[in-house]
Amino acid sequence: MRHAALPATPADRLLAWYDCAARTLPWRAPPGSPAPDPYRVWLSEVMLQQTTVAAVAPRFRAWMERWPTVDSLAAADEADVLGQWAGLGYYARARNLHAAARTVVRLGGFPCDEHGLRALPGVGDYTAAAVAAIAFGCSSVPVDANIARVGARLFAADLGAPQLRARLAPLFAKRAGDVAQALMDLGSGICAPRAPDCAACPLATNCMGRASGEPTRWPARRTRPVRPVRRGLAFWLQAGDDVLLVRRPPRGLLGGMAALPTSRWQDDAEGALAQAPVAANWRVLPKRVAHTFTHFQLDLGVAVAHVAQRPDVAGDWTAIDDLARAGLPTLFSKAAAVARC
Ligand code: ADE
Repeated sequence: MRHAALPATPADRLLAWYDCAARTLPWRAPPGSPAPDPYRVWLSEVMLQQTTVAAVAPRFRAWMERWPTVDSLAAADEADVLGQWAGLGYYARARNLHAAARTVVRLGGFPCDEHGLRALPGVGDYTAAAVAAIAFGCSSVPVDANIARVGARLFAADLGAPQLRARLAPLFAKRAGDVAQALMDLGSGICAPRAPDCAACPLATNCMGRASGEPTRWPARRTRPVRPVRRGLAFWLQAGDDVLLVRRPPRGLLGGMAALPTSRWQDDAEGALAQAPVAANWRVLPKRVAHTFTHFQLDLGVAVAHVAQRPDVAGDWTAIDDLARAGLPTLFSKAAAVARC
């Protein structure tokens, strides 16, 4: 009996596996087909930076329906862009997307290599390499958490990104976009953090981690930094069926986003009620909101007041029934849910 020969090189084995096993995702072109529109690739990579594939897929589709081209995004209002991003977190990504779309339009198109892409607002080493490889077929090596794990195990070493890129580079000699996405799929589906399925891995015969008998030794676990706690209040000021929303200052945390008014967030909640937008009969609810930001944990109380007349105060009165369309970030959706129950 004759057996089909195993592809000769690790890159060929990886690509043969990807040709059969690639995930179908809304921003992807099928394996071996022409590269997708760089706008789709860039948008998906920015969305995927801190957010899971499952959470991104419906948001990506909705975004593409609203702004199908980079020109349409560039022409949009920043407040609409931030509103469309609501719930995805890390809002600087949305501001940068909008700024970068305008740069791309000014340039007459996307830069087509890593170096040019890296100069766009919000595009770091990873995103530049991913877009260069996937949209333009450049032999650029993106290193995200999944690819870093695959690489650390393949070489049984905790390498920094530059070394990892150098050692993975030979895999990217042809079909670089498919190779990048194959490594992403391998990392998310097979080379899983705790229980890698080495029997199903197309790179198993090359994997030094597997050869060691203990592939999960790599990458070394990093201890998470302890986040300091900050405390504050969000103010739910209700007049009839409307609630007061404000827009946060353009720069800084949740910059430019629609929000409930808040006190300052600091080590203790001392004096927070005095920072209410108006004097009223404020009641602090027993239930609080816990929310994790990159650098701190927020413990947010919710103060509620009902007023008969709208007071003269800066902000937008929004029908409570329309809050879901107001583009509130998750923190304030959580606070609104507490206030309404
Ligand atoms: N994570 C980051 N980029 C990705 C992509 N293009 N496909 C799947 N997962 C990803």
